[in-house]
Amino acid sequence: MAQNIAASRLQGTGAHALDLEGVGRQFGALSALSGINMRIAAGERRAVLGSNGAGKTTLFNTITGDFYPTSGRIRFFGEEITTLAAHERIRRGLRRTYQISQLFTNLTVRESVYLACRGVSRRRFSLFRPSPSDGAMAQAESIVHAVHMDDDADTLVGTLSHGQQRQLEIGLALAGAPRFILFDEPAAGLSPTERRDLIAILNALPHHIGYIIIEHDLDVALRVSEYVSMMHNGTVFTEGTPDEIENDPAVQQIYLGGGHG
Ligand SMILES: Nc1ncnc2c1ncn2[C@@H]1O[C@H](COP(=O)(O)OP(=O)(O)OP(=O)(O)O)[C@@H](O)[C@H]1O
Ligand SMILES: [Mg+2]
Repeated sequence: MAQNIAASRLQGTGAHALDLEGVGRQFGALSALSGINMRIAAGERRAVLGSNGAGKTTLFNTITGDFYPTSGRIRFFGEEITTLAAHERIRRGLRRTYQISQLFTNLTVRESVYLACRGVSRRRFSLFRPSPSDGAMAQAESIVHAVHMDDDADTLVGTLSHGQQRQLEIGLALAGAPRFILFDEPAAGLSPTERRDLIAILNALPHHIGYIIIEHDLDVALRVSEYVSMMHNGTVFTEGTPDEIENDPAVQQIYLGGGHG
């Protein structure tokens, strides 16, 4: 039943947020990705799971344009973006967070989010001079709130805990008008409390914002996604609802048998 609902939603008539057709990526002789077919509806929340080296981050890199696939085609809301420059994809509402943190450490949380909001607005080349009438400042305040960082707004990024930095990264991805976000292991290194916070933050994002979350923590992945793709050796080997995936013997083998790092 759940599968039918998910299947009919995915086959809906509107353009998909993402449509990958036969996407592959070679690094010399290594097939990091091969024959990836993936359709993600607008507003859908998808988890991508898989062992170390399965190709998850490579998949993100081809979607964002950090590098191009060596075969196949990628569409974003109906538009072909396979070889579009990364900044053009950002302009179209695609965002990502990285597995390794990439923050400016000598700004405060509020300044970082504000600059990100300015960066994607039309007046991106004007000077950094916040004013109360500044729309970017209002947006920054609401983002700081959305990622549960009101109390840290004036804290220097370099002095934040690892968990707070991951929260800030989500905030930066929310700057501008994102339509789809790729989260690369946002729960890595978080404490149990921080994980609960992360789940709450993701589940409270506006419904029109879809995402893919790469996650090793099955518990987090299944609570923040509607559909799950399992990767191994550069391919997707099974997909299903969180319920189906949790009860899949092959998945249990990987997650309970210690087969992932
Ligand atoms: N820039 C690159 N050059 C050469 N090989 C690469 C490059 N990026 C990734 N690879 C290789 O591609 C394969 C997939 O790597 P990828 O980083 O996508 O895995 P992953 O699923 O994200 O793993 P992890 O869970 O460890 O983050 C690996 O064998 C990796 O060594
Ligand atoms: Mg990775």
